[in-house]
Amino acid sequence: MMDTTVQNIVVEKVKTSKIDQIDFDNLSFGSVFTDHMLVCDYKNGAWEIPKIIPYQPITLDPSAKIFHYGQSIFEGMKAYKDSNNDVWLFRPLDNQKRLNISAKRMAIPELPEEYFMEGLKTLLKLEKKWIPQSEGSSLYIRPFIFASGKGFHASPADEYKFIIACAPSGSYFSGKVKVLIEETYSRSANGGVGFAKAGGNYAGQFYPTQLAVKKGYQQVIWTDDNTHEYIEEAGAMNIFVRINDTLITGPTSDRILDGITRKSIITIAEDEGIPVEIRKITVSEVVEASKKGILKEMFGAGTAAVVSPISGFGHKNMNYDLPELESSYASLLKKRITDIQYNKTEDKFGWRYKV
Ligand code: PLP
Ligand code: COI
Repeated sequence: MMDTTVQNIVVEKVKTSKIDQIDFDNLSFGSVFTDHMLVCDYKNGAWEIPKIIPYQPITLDPSAKIFHYGQSIFEGMKAYKDSNNDVWLFRPLDNQKRLNISAKRMAIPELPEEYFMEGLKTLLKLEKKWIPQSEGSSLYIRPFIFASGKGFHASPADEYKFIIACAPSGSYFSGKVKVLIEETYSRSANGGVGFAKAGGNYAGQFYPTQLAVKKGYQQVIWTDDNTHEYIEEAGAMNIFVRINDTLITGPTSDRILDGITRKSIITIAEDEGIPVEIRKITVSEVVEASKKGILKEMFGAGTAAVVSPISGFGHKNMNYDLPELESSYASLLKKRITDIQYNKTEDKFGWRYKV
């Protein structure tokens, strides 16, 4: 039986913090990193006790399987600081569970819950001063696992590394978000790995997204690989559309990431009395609704993206603009979810987790 009790995580502290070099008033997303990182190795058939060390590069053998066969998964989370200086996570056990769902699909050994949670809490307590307090900023947390084991044989590695790195961050998108509804390329397929947060899912999106960026869009909205008739999700967020007063989002499947923000937004919207439908959305109904003026809103939902209103979309060489509403569902839902995350309001659904 593996001992998954983490009593004494070894912490090796930096000699000098680099925090004074960081401009906390102008944070971009995920580009500066805190002083420390958590590292946990899988060797000889077991996860070793995690340790915390100064943030540093990793040395790998050139034959490490991550480089050749892409065995890698990750999570995205945020730590929020309230006005009392207390630190909060949002539904962290859901990230921990999803990491293991991704691990299973990618033939990566599952990580004990306690290693994830205790490791994360120890790291966050150490990095507390790195968690921004200003509105819209937070500490973005990136837990990930990759195959560090050696060998060109195309089979799962025998060694892995679980790392948690943290980046004080501002918003993911810098301006208005326009999306292109994709009809040629696909992000995922039935029976594939679309539901997993596997690194390759993102690499596969980069080229079609580059083409979309050249046309003036920030993100691609993926459609189903079979018919390209149904809206699935965007590159880094789940998608909601509002037709008249009804908020609609597609069902999750083995092609779509089961977003934690998505399911929280559904709960909050229902709590607000907003009519919510979880059903397949056709591209043609969105285009038709836009032409009739009843497509009121589209927005993306995700940890990094929070709730990001979409200002317009492209489809078959046509551009469709969305109206700018004075009181939108997006702004209402964003306020409700961020008020919970930053401990500004009652936590009606029990989602907040104190570090
Ligand atoms: N879909 C994709 C492809 C994502 O990368 C993300 C981000 O994590 C999401 C959806 C939103 O998921 P969550 O709300 O759990 O962050
Ligand atoms: C997140 O929202 O945390 C994600 O993982 C999306 C990522 C591509 C930035």
